[in-house]
Amino acid sequence: MNPNLRYQFETPSPATSLLGAEHLQPVHMPDIRPLMPSPGPISTVAPAQSTKTPGPRMDDIKTRIHQEILSLMDWQRMESMPPERLRTELKALTEELITTHKLALNETERRHIIQVIQDEMLGLGPIESLLSDPTVSDILVNGPFQVYAERHGKIVHTDVQFDNEAHLLRVIDRIVSRIGRRVDEMSPMVDARLPDGSRVNAVIPPLAIDGPLLSIRRFAVVPFSVQDLISMGTLTDGMAELIQGLVRARLNVLVSGGTGSGKTTLLNVMSASIPANERIITIEDAAELQLQQPHVVRMETRPPNIEGKGEISQRDLLRNSLRMRPDRIIMGEVRGGEVLDMLQAMNTGHDGSMTTIHANSARDALTRLEHMLGMAGLKAESRAMRQQIAAALSVVIQVSRLSDGQRKITSLQEITGIEGDIISMQEIFRFEQTGLNPDGRVQGQFVATGIRPKFAQRLVTRGIALSDKLFEPTQGWS
Ligand SMILES: Nc1ncnc2c1ncn2[C@@H]1O[C@H](COP(=O)(O)OP(=O)(O)OP(=O)(O)O)[C@@H](O)[C@H]1O
Ligand SMILES: [Mg+2]
Repeated sequence: MNPNLRYQFETPSPATSLLGAEHLQPVHMPDIRPLMPSPGPISTVAPAQSTKTPGPRMDDIKTRIHQEILSLMDWQRMESMPPERLRTELKALTEELITTHKLALNETERRHIIQVIQDEMLGLGPIESLLSDPTVSDILVNGPFQVYAERHGKIVHTDVQFDNEAHLLRVIDRIVSRIGRRVDEMSPMVDARLPDGSRVNAVIPPLAIDGPLLSIRRFAVVPFSVQDLISMGTLTDGMAELIQGLVRARLNVLVSGGTGSGKTTLLNVMSASIPANERIITIEDAAELQLQQPHVVRMETRPPNIEGKGEISQRDLLRNSLRMRPDRIIMGEVRGGEVLDMLQAMNTGHDGSMTTIHANSARDALTRLEHMLGMAGLKAESRAMRQQIAAALSVVIQVSRLSDGQRKITSLQEITGIEGDIISMQEIFRFEQTGLNPDGRVQGQFVATGIRPKFAQRLVTRGIALSDKLFEPTQGWS
């Protein structure tokens, strides 16, 4: 190949289709050195036995190949290509450049460079390897040089790094711009979603003091089933039977738990018991639920635009949804004023509705609901608010992320009414932690308290039969 010509492809190479028409013609380029590191050329001698892929030399080669591809690409063409084809073409183009510049790379290095170029240009750069790992459930980026991942419930430090702050910002920008949002000094905090549904939050300086922060909650491509949760020890067969019955009998249920405790997952699993002939409306801040029924209407809030206008809140969506003839409403999580409308909906014929709340215990969940009713502008006495809560909700399920990363239903309680000024609840099932194994694994058991809930009768009248011994006091499940 003539070193003074930019790409002179003798036979049509797949790589050529990535280049604009002008690049198909020989273009005089007096010096091809821009690709070379300065000072001096990229070493053309691969270090002996170099199997260690990353390193300053490889970073340098990657940056320069990347820049050269960027300057050569026909973006319009690129965007109209299916991703798989683009992937192949990028590979071919990278190989072409490696040959053109006579870069002496061993096979591992060559493959590594191709992979990082593809990840950089088609995906989300360094975190792409974590995204393609199905065991990773969360990716937490604290500035360019500190990336954590959650695997099997445990958060571990990874060796993934971004080149610098600008590199991380570029990746964040790519994520948010894809869904028409922006992140900059004016809006330094943003929620977004990856094409696969994974939930993303980014915070950039000046709010993030030590560099941009990126938190990705992976989307389980195949949603967990109730059986999966039973196998993972989140609940027992008996508890699952009861929860499925509650949903089928159209009781209103609140799932409560801390951050990442498995609230949304449980809500999703519960939704699987809704009969297929019902019209279900889901309302979420960032759509995460994966209902399997045929008749599901999904709605998602919209944040305000840059002038602070145009916001559509969960409350707006909920009010609108009431005119859409839902059989059930599932709200991803209540956080504020929408709780008033949600409880009213539950009290007025949309029974069987469900939502989640961020709280550390079932009792705490009720207190928070009350605060939220206050936020909604409800000027009622505490007792009236509590009455409304007690009338709307039948069951509170508390989920927790234990110290070893396991998620468990730690309590299932029935709301029985109001006694004096207090909402009365009775616990039907709970998880009792008894200790920790030497390896840190939590030991304990699920316990039926022996109380037969009042709602059991409602299940019976709706034709839902439960095992006889379901509520008998038990010990020893785990
Ligand atoms: N029962 C479970 N067993 C094991 N892992 C689980 C379980 N439930 C959820 N997870 C995992 O825990 C993470 C958090 O789950 P989920 O989004 O359901 O939690 P959440 O309480 O809704 O979180 P958030 O507070 O962010 O809304 C996910 O990665 C999910 O795959
Ligand atoms: Mg959630």
